[in-house]
Amino acid sequence: MDEFITSIDLGTSKVCAIISEIDKNRQLQIVGVGTCPCEGIKKGIVVDIDSTSKSILYALEQAENMANMEVSTAYVNIPGGYTKIIRNKGIIAVSGEDKEIDSEDIERVLNSAAILSMPQDQHIIDIIPAQYIIDGYDEIRDPLGMVGIRLEADVDIVIGSTTTILNAVKSANEVGMEVLGLIPEPFAVSESVSNKDERELGVLIIDIGAGTSDFSVFKKDQLKYNGLVPIAGNHITNDISVGLRISFDESEEIKRKFGIAYTPLASDEKMLKVNPIGIDQKLSISEAQLSTIIEARLGEIFEMINEELIKNDLKKEILTGIVLTGGGVGYFPGSKELAKEIFNLPVRIGKPKFIGIDDPIYSTGLGLINYSLKRKFNYYIEHNDSEVKKSNSSKKSGNNITSFFKKIWDEYF
Ligand SMILES: Nc1ncnc2c1ncn2[C@@H]1O[C@H](COP(=O)(O)OP(=O)(O)OP(=O)(O)O)[C@@H](O)[C@H]1O
Ligand SMILES: [Mg+2]
Repeated sequence: MDEFITSIDLGTSKVCAIISEIDKNRQLQIVGVGTCPCEGIKKGIVVDIDSTSKSILYALEQAENMANMEVSTAYVNIPGGYTKIIRNKGIIAVSGEDKEIDSEDIERVLNSAAILSMPQDQHIIDIIPAQYIIDGYDEIRDPLGMVGIRLEADVDIVIGSTTTILNAVKSANEVGMEVLGLIPEPFAVSESVSNKDERELGVLIIDIGAGTSDFSVFKKDQLKYNGLVPIAGNHITNDISVGLRISFDESEEIKRKFGIAYTPLASDEKMLKVNPIGIDQKLSISEAQLSTIIEARLGEIFEMINEELIKNDLKKEILTGIVLTGGGVGYFPGSKELAKEIFNLPVRIGKPKFIGIDDPIYSTGLGLINYSLKRKFNYYIEHNDSEVKKSNSSKKSGNNITSFFKKIWDEYF
């Protein structure tokens, strides 16, 4: 099995392309990585196709040069807050005389589950089987080859705004890339920063990027809730810029070099110099002063997420704790301590464990690859591991993200 999978993460601050290979030893290898700053994406959404395409092209070229190969297909992300998940049910009579369920039956039951009335500006992105029921016996993950008369499927239908979908896909198409699937970020990120046990028992994953803070609760290995706060790393930089009256670029630089997210960890004595706009002299500020600004904004994001969890009675579901990821939170010393104080739950930082992408900004990019492997081939990779394992079922269930996406997508053309 020599398989190459490419992902394109469309982020508010950067586009990232990752080319991966499953080698002969069933290890996932990252063979190419490229990133490019992007001006065409605001709050995770493509607002300028030309500019986004250019960033995709540069990021891909870097990744292709590193991998020494050309790619033409990729999986692309869509921010979680812009998608909605609807649980629906499909029922069919098994067709064959021997009543053995084949891939056509599975496709038929999934298609019947996908019939629902939707607002005109929304479109189906994906259909994810949650469980199959054969003649009343539930919790079946893969019915292929089993015998029964009536086949039911409970599915999660992922829908998203048509404009958002079209613009993301068009940006990739402009540079000759075919989009094999659009993957909502919570599904992607969870695959790269958490393991199955955590998702089974209950985990909260918070991905704070540049423009959006996505959060999702997983329980019984399924997405139970996901939300989005439209405040993230850029707002922290902006606050520093306004608070100290310095340029955005200088704020970004000092945030990265000296930023601490939890004031008890910052020093009153350690001083740094900044260049306020319109003043000739440099100004001295303490590490603690800088930290106060960062803590206030990050704390606000955590508080907003916490309130939404309480309002929806979700805190009791989070048995294993919180995983923080994304560039807006993953680098700061003290972000764990701040989150622990606000949520009163165990916290850890999540990032990919692969050399070259061992950073919280790559969680979505790697996650897109992991998730597509899981859906496309029924393979999975544990967090902290690079071995590609086969799921319990040895057969291909027809539950293939590519075929569904293609089918849905073909309706547009
Ligand atoms: N070393 C660092 N210290 C602090 N913050 C950092 C550091 N490096 C990057 N960041 C911040 O990370 C943010 C970008 O993170 P990320 O790449 O995860 O976001 P994105 O995917 O582009 O955006 P989004 O997910 O919101 O669409 C920026 O706000 C940037 O300032
Ligand atoms: Mg992101």
